[in-house]
Amino acid sequence: MTTAYLNGEYLPLEQARISPLDRGFLYGDSVYEVVHCYDGCAFRLESHVRRLMRSLGELSIPADAAFLRSVVPELIARDGLRSGEALVYIQVTRGAAPKRQHAFPPAGTPPTVFAFAWAFQPMAEWYDPGVVLATLPDDRWARCDIKTTALIGNVMGHQRARDAGAHEGIFIRDGAVTEGTLSNAWAVIKGEVRTAPLSNLILPGVKRDVVVECCRANGIPLREEPVLAHELARADEVFITSTVHDVAPASRVDGRDLPRARPVTDRIRALFRQAVAAECR
Ligand code: PDD
Repeated sequence: MTTAYLNGEYLPLEQARISPLDRGFLYGDSVYEVVHCYDGCAFRLESHVRRLMRSLGELSIPADAAFLRSVVPELIARDGLRSGEALVYIQVTRGAAPKRQHAFPPAGTPPTVFAFAWAFQPMAEWYDPGVVLATLPDDRWARCDIKTTALIGNVMGHQRARDAGAHEGIFIRDGAVTEGTLSNAWAVIKGEVRTAPLSNLILPGVKRDVVVECCRANGIPLREEPVLAHELARADEVFITSTVHDVAPASRVDGRDLPRARPVTDRIRALFRQAVAAECR
């Protein structure tokens, strides 16, 4: 049985009920997090708390993110997910309004807070032989730094990539890579690691932070500067990072096979695993 956390209560997931007037349902007026747990340890939980707090603040949703600190471990414990990998999904909406209107609901309308966890098996091809990527135009709104559930641009982009035979789509805006449809995107060009700088155009990924730290602490050249589309087309190595992918090398981008030797990505993957081990194992 999967346990849900809903507005302060734990109950079986199939019994969890949310109003059709919930702003998350009507407007995508909500924010979320996905936390990766390794053997029951919620990796970088404080980063997720901070990012959720920021997302809530940017959208003026009157809720706190501190509940993550108790709810994430509690769901893991209740659902017997203390060994192996697990993901915890957390969503906070602006709550259910008395009627559908764009303006915010009356002050005092309680936000809807929902979370659940599940056992997670990474897909083998994410690591070896590597993921297939396809670029596509970034037609999303200009606040991709907010982790909102209004993900239709990401969903359509991801499906388009899947339909093109790729595992993940890489968004291109104004001739430069922004990020993946559900990941951050990286290239290695002449030994230097490159990724888009933090801005309103990308999500500040928790795993992105880990890779930046790994590079800085280990003397791996890193520049947070946009990767132009034509640079991506010639990059020596390409990889993506996310809660679900960790660090996943690319085997092909837009039909071009990348070299099987990925010295920089391999090193970053090893450092990434060490960072997880240092915190969680
Ligand atoms: N997605 N960029 C986008 C658009 C994302 O949706 C995600 C994560 C990331 C990577 O962020 P992090 O390293 O914090 O997971 C970057 C999650 C996994 C999702 O939507 O399921």
